[in-house]
Amino acid sequence: MSNQAECDLALFQASLQRATGDPAFYDLFYQRFIESSPNIARVFQNRDMVQLKKKLAITLEMVADTAEGKPGLMMYLEMLGKIHQRLEIKGAYFNGWRDALLETVAETDPDLDEATRQAWRQVIDDVTTRMLQG
Ligand code: HEM
Repeated sequence: MSNQAECDLALFQASLQRATGDPAFYDLFYQRFIESSPNIARVFQNRDMVQLKKKLAITLEMVADTAEGKPGLMMYLEMLGKIHQRLEIKGAYFNGWRDALLETVAETDPDLDEATRQAWRQVIDDVTTRMLQG
């Protein structure tokens, strides 16, 4: 792993911890994402949001804790991609997902700076790329 990637991962890890120190983090994220468009709102109708929030939390922690390139994480993200493909969630929706998450981080991490923001973008883009390849 390159030094830049290690640096990004460390910034992301620290920021994730600060942001999720706010117990409303996942509520704020899904509220923001769901309100961003009627199509998104439709996709989330009748979902078990309590479970979904827990699963997203576990996924972000896994990403934060796992060194890049570990096969277990890559296989999990590919499987996650297939679950989303089956729901017919298009690539374009992932931009809205990223924006909603970044805005929620801005709201909940009091120490967010530009380098940390870039680190989040990089991590989310890597995860999205892996999911869409799966
Ligand atoms: C990098 C981006 C994303 C990540 C990391 C992510 C993560 C997750 C996780 C961990 C689950 C639970 C899967 C399981 O049941 O094991 C899930 C389910 C779901 N995701 Fe995503 N997601 C992403 C993008 C999106 C986008 C763009 C949408 C678009 C609307 C979306 C809609 C959903 C829905 C509707 C479910 C629920 C499926 C069900 O009820 O079984 N996700 N997501």
